[in-house]
Order: sequence, then C-alpha cells, then structure tokens
Amino acid sequence: MSEQVTVFEAVGGMPYFRSLVERFYQGVSQDPLLRPMYPADLNGAVERLALFLGQYWGGPDTYSLQRGHPRLRMRHMPFRVDRAARDAWLGHMVAALEADPPDEPVRSAMIEYFLRSAEFLRNVDESDDPAGEPVVN
Ligand code: HEM
Repeated sequence: MSEQVTVFEAVGGMPYFRSLVERFYQGVSQDPLLRPMYPADLNGAVERLALFLGQYWGGPDTYSLQRGHPRLRMRHMPFRVDRAARDAWLGHMVAALEADPPDEPVRSAMIEYFLRSAEFLRNVDESDDPAGEPVVN
C-alpha cells in the first residue's frame, strides 16, 4: 500500500496555509512598496492566496472553483512586479514560512517554489541590469 501523502496533508491542511498567509500579509501590511498594491481590506486577499496555495500543494480545488483558472501572470499584470517587489514579496513569504516551517523536504520545496514563481511573475524588463537572481533579504 502506498504511504505517499501530499504536501497539503503533511503540513496539516488549510489551517497551515491560512496561518502562513496571515503571517505573510502581516508583513505586507507594513511594507511601503507592496502595501499600496493591495486592497484596503486584506481579508479577501488572504483567502485567495491561502486557497490557491492549498490547491497547488494537493488540497481541494476550491480556488479554481471560485476564481477559475489561476492565470497568475495575467492576474499580476496590473501590478508593477519588478525585482524590488519580487524580493519584498519573497522576504515576507520566507519569513512567514520560517516562523513555522514544515519539516524537510517540504520546507525546501516550498522555498524553491516561491523563488521560482515570484521570478515567473516579474513583469518589468530589467535586462539592462545583470543582477537578476532572486534575493531573499
Ligand atoms: C512577485 C511578487 C508579487 C507581488 C508584488 C504580488 C502582488 C499581488 C497583488 C497586489 C495581488 C492582488 C491582491 C488580491 O486582491 O488578491 C495578488 C494576488 C494574487 N497573488 Fe500575487 N504577488 C506576487 C507574487 C505572487 C506569487 C509568487 C504567488 C504564488 C505563489 C502569488 C499568488 C497570488 C494569488 C493566488 C493571487 C490572487 C489571484 C486572484 O484570484 O485574483 N503572487 N498578488
């Protein structure tokens, strides 16, 4: 019999993703670069990101049922995601993760995923500047 569990199950399901994302938005709410991009009331944003992450890591597909196909690049086009925004976002997310980290190898897999996806969502061409790798401060 297979003993495989999803990341979603390993971290304890939606309560883990909700508290991760709540910690993340506590950081965002103090961030002078990021805060103005988000709606005044962050509760909806907490729910959207938590449901998305839960779905991505093997939980129920509630996010897609409510929001449709994620199309995250398209959904981020209204916001200026340059390297500074990417790294600010990553800084808050990695801090939120490290405050209550999942066991390895899940912790590393999540950090890798956030680094990759934040770079994927960057939508400002800074190719004149060679310092391109994501930086977590
Ligand atoms: C790279 C820096 C990023 C910036 C500046 C950024 C900014 C934003 C902003 C301003 C919103 C709108 C808030 C809302 O009303 O939901 C948003 C939504 C969202 N972001 Fe990001 N984001 C970033 C990276 C990411 C990453 C890496 C992910 C996924 C791993 C992500 C997933 C989402 C999701 C799922 C939504 C809600 C989409 C929807 O259903 O409308 N974002 N983001």
